[in-house]
Amino acid sequence: MITKIIGTGSSQGRRRVSNQDLEQVVETSDEWIHSRTGISSRYVTEGEGIKAMAAEAAEKACIQAGISPKEVELILVATSTPECCFPSTACQVQGEIGAEGAAAFDISAACSGFIFALHTANSFLVSGTYKTALVIGADELSKLVDWNDRRTCVLFGDGAGAVVVRAEDDGKFFSAVGSDGSRGEILTCVSRSGGNFITKKQPKMGFIAMDGQEVFKFAVKKVPSCIEEMLKEHQEKPEDIRYYLLHQANERIIAAVAKRLGEPAEKFPMNISAYGNTSAASIPILLDELNREGKLNRGDKIVMAGFGGGLTWGSALLEW
Ligand code: COA
Repeated sequence: MITKIIGTGSSQGRRRVSNQDLEQVVETSDEWIHSRTGISSRYVTEGEGIKAMAAEAAEKACIQAGISPKEVELILVATSTPECCFPSTACQVQGEIGAEGAAAFDISAACSGFIFALHTANSFLVSGTYKTALVIGADELSKLVDWNDRRTCVLFGDGAGAVVVRAEDDGKFFSAVGSDGSRGEILTCVSRSGGNFITKKQPKMGFIAMDGQEVFKFAVKKVPSCIEEMLKEHQEKPEDIRYYLLHQANERIIAAVAKRLGEPAEKFPMNISAYGNTSAASIPILLDELNREGKLNRGDKIVMAGFGGGLTWGSALLEW
């Protein structure tokens, strides 16, 4: 069996926040943010939360796939920002959309999460365990950034993207993921710490902390190498790929990857200007936009690649 994407959907936080808006919050400028990252604005939640965003994206993907949520057998949500430890966001989505027959669980692989979730769903589909799955990348990083820290708060946005995948008889789907836990300290977010039985201290929330330059170096090296390895392993030529959909973290990272692969910039669509870095949601939101704009044709070969905290990375190659 071969994994095929048969529907996509996305949603984002309700409030649009421009770089000019952020100039009122921290000492920054539209010029600094845009020239360093390519970001002009981002969307943040206003209380609707991750469950609502993920469920909306999932419902849209099911409608486009022409299936009822009742046909979904597996729901995977890649997220670093669940509302609760339990129930998982995947179980919350299941309840919201009425996918009664599905098994549902979350996957934590930061900004690479969507690729990890797709890779996991693919294993269930090719093994014959399930036929139809919903794979969602959803993050609400606005609740994890320190809004006083200009080095990080300008970078992120909230959103969700979903795909319905189905086991089909023909097509093409390959994926690979990797991790390097020894370098985890360059991008961290301690969720809750300091809670202690002896001192009776209550736990405190942590914030996102990042060595931006180290993350940049990691991304521009790892992303092209994992794409090159995947293409080589499956005897595909870079020039035969229609689109490279990369995690939308920084326009300069995407340009550097394109250069390293020797592929034209037009093959690397971007929406970071409008959304910022939406973490696990960035690749499926971009895919949904291309799909709804009618830019994907049957048989197009598409590469997706992500990177993020962990450190983690992953890529997928599929035929539309
Ligand atoms: N506005 C204005 N100035 C800012 C700023 C902001 N929002 N954030 C940082 N600065 C300042 C710094 O304080 C520093 O000032 P100093 O030289 O007086 O100390 C200066 O700008 C340069 O900071 P630096 O961190 O060296 O900038 P940079 O060119 O490396 O760009 C990033 C920073 C974060 C944009 C860049 O490193 C990056 O994109 N890294 C990858 C991050 C990423 O992709 N993360 C997500 C992974 S999933």
